[in-house]
Amino acid sequence: MLNFEFKNPTKILFGKGEIAKISKEIPKNAKILMVYGGGSIKSNGVYDQVKSALDGHELHEFGGVPANPEYEVLVEALAVIKEKNIDYLLAVGGGSVIDGVKFLSAAAKYEGTPWEILTKPVRTFEGEGLPFGSILTMPATGSEMNSGYVISRRETNEKLSSGGPGLFPEFSVLDPEVIQSIPKRQIANGIADAYTHVLEQYMTAPSSADLQERIAESILISLQNAAPKVMSDEFDYDAAGNYMWCCTMALNGLIQKGVITDWAVHAMGHELTAYFGIDHARTLAVIAPSHYRYNFEDKKGKLAQYAERVWNVTEGTLEEKAEAGIKKLEEFFHSLEIQTKLSYYTQEYLNTAERVEKAFTERNWLGLGEYKKLTPKDAFKIVEMSY
Ligand code: NZQ
Ligand code: ZN
Repeated sequence: MLNFEFKNPTKILFGKGEIAKISKEIPKNAKILMVYGGGSIKSNGVYDQVKSALDGHELHEFGGVPANPEYEVLVEALAVIKEKNIDYLLAVGGGSVIDGVKFLSAAAKYEGTPWEILTKPVRTFEGEGLPFGSILTMPATGSEMNSGYVISRRETNEKLSSGGPGLFPEFSVLDPEVIQSIPKRQIANGIADAYTHVLEQYMTAPSSADLQERIAESILISLQNAAPKVMSDEFDYDAAGNYMWCCTMALNGLIQKGVITDWAVHAMGHELTAYFGIDHARTLAVIAPSHYRYNFEDKKGKLAQYAERVWNVTEGTLEEKAEAGIKKLEEFFHSLEIQTKLSYYTQEYLNTAERVEKAFTERNWLGLGEYKKLTPKDAFKIVEMSY
């Protein structure tokens, strides 16, 4: 097992009705800016729950953060923070809103043009951001219990990530009841995103970190079990709770400790969102199978372990099991009605591999993946395989 440090300071309030407790988590004299997305919280009652929980606090609002949070919108929120002397942020939404708030938390303490935070060679924000909490309405990204975020810039077609140890939410509320209003398409996205987060930290080479590997496999199996229940029309509170907690556990830092991690699927996937606006999770479903086939030699031991332990594939050679693992993964995405080929999402796909190769080269992303050896040319080939 590799050396590691592990600190995760986010307090989780899990379960039905927990939103009512947030006033205890926020200082009484705070000037709060509640940030939300396109309005789902107004129709499903979460907005009213937050307002009543914070009755008596100084509460300002900024709505309209779009999915794949946009820099252009967030700088408007930053102006509100400065104008009203806001000293506490509250994200109420999915990964996009929480990511947007993390960016605001950093930008509020940053001297200079905020976009620089995402384009500096070392994309880690040092120091403490403005304190914030979150109320999660869409299980998927794990943003509610990690310190990373991803921001898009419309005018340059870029989607870039950053983060820093001072950007964890102070608290996050996980009430499984909120998933009742999420469209099935978004629930499928959430499952696929969390599932791929586990794979990014798991589908490398077999390691000696037995506990992390088995926790990772348990999250995958639990997501597989919860998927048909949360995708059905009948609300199942326990299935919703398992789905929600799996998403958080998939990316709160625990399973990446002591092991090597990949994340090249996300790097390539973000490009597809930036060029074509494809949902984040669907870009991962497009890239992951090709990525695993292209890097088969490096990953076949773990692919076979995945097939055996997660899907009970017992027959065949190591290579056959590994290929069976990739097929099971594709079938799982298809079971969520998520397509795994780029040509399904856009007709304009033909020069995508060139664009990704060029973008990675220009950003000096010359060695990605767990061995830091995946070149822009490799990315070209993987993206081309995904057409
Ligand atoms: O904007 P509203 O009206 O709220 O609608 C949202 C949005 O349209 C809707 N929604 C959310 N909760 C709902 C709901 N609709 C009904 N009922 C509810 N309870 O769902 C839509 C999608 O929301 P969004 O926040 O965009 O989804 P998600 O949580 O999947 O976040 C995606 C973003 O997170 C980034 C992605 O790149 C993408 O920008 N990621 C962040 C990560 C992190 N911080 O660690 C890691 C991930 O890999 C990912 O890159
Ligand atoms: Zn993701």
